[in-house]
Amino acid sequence: MGKGSGFGKVILFGEHFVVHGIPGIVSAIDSTANAVVKKSIEKIDVTDERKGSKGYAKEKKLQQFESINRMIKKMNLLPNIGGLNIWLGGSLPGFSGLGASAASSVAIARAIAEEFALSVSNQEINEIAFEAEKAYAGNPSGIDNTAATFGGLLWFEKNLAGGPNKIEEISLKEPVEIVIGSTGIVANTKAMVEGVEERKKTDPQKYIPLFQEAKVLAINARKEIQNFDLLKVGELLSINHGLLRDIGVSCKELDHLVDVARGQGAYGAKLTGGGGGGCMVALTPGKNLQEKVAIAIENEGFEVLRTKIGVKRI
Ligand code: MEV
Repeated sequence: MGKGSGFGKVILFGEHFVVHGIPGIVSAIDSTANAVVKKSIEKIDVTDERKGSKGYAKEKKLQQFESINRMIKKMNLLPNIGGLNIWLGGSLPGFSGLGASAASSVAIARAIAEEFALSVSNQEINEIAFEAEKAYAGNPSGIDNTAATFGGLLWFEKNLAGGPNKIEEISLKEPVEIVIGSTGIVANTKAMVEGVEERKKTDPQKYIPLFQEAKVLAINARKEIQNFDLLKVGELLSINHGLLRDIGVSCKELDHLVDVARGQGAYGAKLTGGGGGGCMVALTPGKNLQEKVAIAIENEGFEVLRTKIGVKRI
């Protein structure tokens, strides 16, 4: 029996833009996906007991099988693998936007490696999970699997020429409370990524300046995070939400939850991840503000996760 886990994540700056080589900032959160893998005779069987959005596991079933097959191939376990019994659980809810797919891929890759007594480095786990992410995101940047593998607060820049991506740890004076609000809408990241690509191609005059703005925003955000100027960071988060609206990846539920959070005093709020549903994140330093914003979102009938950015790294 092999076991493994992967971190959930929240993208603070730059989702979608990162796919095109613009820098992004991502933080692991204190929730993980966990996997247990056992060799079996003939087929791959997944028992998915992660809690979360209704329909998440069902909706992602086909992509999940494709992702597992991609990992097995990447790990050179074909053709003699037989079957696998895979159990998935852990504290990370299956809300779209929290990197649940990447976290589960990292967890499964680690558990397979343990079950087959393979010595696999974290860098290799990251590469295997990146291969798996292609099933969920089509043309992923690699930011989700990187956060799921290494944890921490990271600066991420995809190398569009195919070389190693730039991954740097960002220091944060202390962990900071955030609230994640889930719209409950299961989003299709692949379709969202393709939509942005398509619109950027057909309307470069609108899109190229927005991508430039996203780059400047990420650079400024990194400085403000390092200065621990949380009011400034919050302001930049909200500006980032505006850019994501401009590139067409928000929706009325996300805009509503962002407004509710800001109305309750959140320092800033934005959608996080692929958009089109999924989750938003609000920066709410201190337990009191976190609770106030979380309750306001719950009172609107939505599920929340109270957590922190800048928590542990492996
Ligand atoms: C999804 O969490 C983040 C996206 O930018 C896709 C990716 O970077 O692979 C939308």
